[in-house]
Amino acid sequence: MSEEQPFGVSRRGLLVCSAASVAASAVPISEVEAAQAMPDPAMPVAFEVNGRRAALALDPRTTLLDALREHLHLTGTKKGCDHGQCGACTVIVNGRRINSCLSLAVMHEGDKVTTIEGLGTPDDLHPMQAAFVKHDGYQCGYCTPGQICSAVAVLDEIRAGIPSHVTADLSKKPGFGNAELRERMSGNICRCGAYSNIAEAIAEVAARRKA
Ligand code: FES
Ligand code: FES
Repeated sequence: MSEEQPFGVSRRGLLVCSAASVAASAVPISEVEAAQAMPDPAMPVAFEVNGRRAALALDPRTTLLDALREHLHLTGTKKGCDHGQCGACTVIVNGRRINSCLSLAVMHEGDKVTTIEGLGTPDDLHPMQAAFVKHDGYQCGYCTPGQICSAVAVLDEIRAGIPSHVTADLSKKPGFGNAELRERMSGNICRCGAYSNIAEAIAEVAARRKA
């Protein structure tokens, strides 16, 4: 039987071509050639963190969370899920809370970032930090920086009149009630289950701000 196949390609010819392409792809390229073939991934970005200017050159795929933790060594902000599901990485950017694991650092040129380190100091706690201590709003503490940053921003959101899923009357400003606070904090997971103490701490600060 002839080995000629449809399209005019013989089995022998096909094998020769395959062997040649494998040999070609196996030709080694030096590390220098490889580096020259790749574009330099570093991009400059500058933003303010806790009142201080930070200028970095980052791989554009670096998240804000990794920029804070790995490049600026601000390890108060925690990496939990790294997928926007736990809230451990919450920081405040230009007055609004965000999940820093979901945001690329290079998107924050000129922004003002506040992390847990920027809210207070051990000798001069932010009122929300003091309330968490007073009400035992934590156990292991891993979620706590995110909980506190979120809680601080939540009170500002309510004061600014931003409604939530449970705001009943959109024609009025939302209140500082339990349902509003719990709904707005629902993106911050605490695997230790310190929720009732966290809620008490936030409610106390909210009551003070209302007064
Ligand atoms: Fe960002 Fe979990 S680490 S939401
Ligand atoms: Fe442990 Fe919240 S205090 S996860």
